Amino acid sequence: MNNSTNIDDLLADVARGFDTSKAGEAFSARHGVRALSRLTITSNEVASLITDRLRQRVEGRTVIEIGGGTGLLSFQLAKVATRVFCIEANPLWSSAFVELLLEHKPSNLSYLFGTASEFYGSISGDVAVLATHSDVAGMKMVAAQFAPTVIDIYGEMIADNPGAFDPFARQARGFT
Ligand SMILES: C[S@@+](CC[C@H](N)C(=O)[O-])C[C@H]1O[C@@H](n2cnc3c(N)ncnc32)[C@H](O)[C@@H]1O
Repeated sequence: MNNSTNIDDLLADVARGFDTSKAGEAFSARHGVRALSRLTITSNEVASLITDRLRQRVEGRTVIEIGGGTGLLSFQLAKVATRVFCIEANPLWSSAFVELLLEHKPSNLSYLFGTASEFYGSISGDVAVLATHSDVAGMKMVAAQFAPTVIDIYGEMIADNPGAFDPFARQARGFT
């Protein structure tokens, strides 16, 4: 499978299904997940660009991604970091990705399906990262349980260039 073409179509299909899924909403409620089930990492290209941006801070490190969605960003981060754990509460997202993982998942990358608090004390890293525009504060608090450094990816990008983001993303970080 070519991971720069088909994966994008697969992601779009799953995201469309998820948006209308009552089972998805029920899952989030049952697991205390407050973030919206909306992907921001919607292509390999976006995941690669973010990985380039983070390169110096993740190279040679153990990285924990909180709320990794499909896991596409972690997939790219694992090309740079020594070890990557991608924690995602909702296993539905992985259905977009199973074929890619079957062919390409490296052994320094592990996906953990469950609410992050289920893994407190079991894993830790040098850096925790999160990509979200909802429940930013909650996910940052969770991330801090795993690593001394927490990177709110969009928080940094919005601070650099607020005008490039829509009001919803800006307001999630207190920018108007
Ligand atoms: C807004 S989505 C973003 C997904 C992905 N990071 C992206 O940008 O495409 C937030 C994701 O975080 C997950 N999530 C939120 N809180 C979580 C927690 N405490 N433990 C594990 N996953 C969590 C949700 O299930 C959801 O898939």
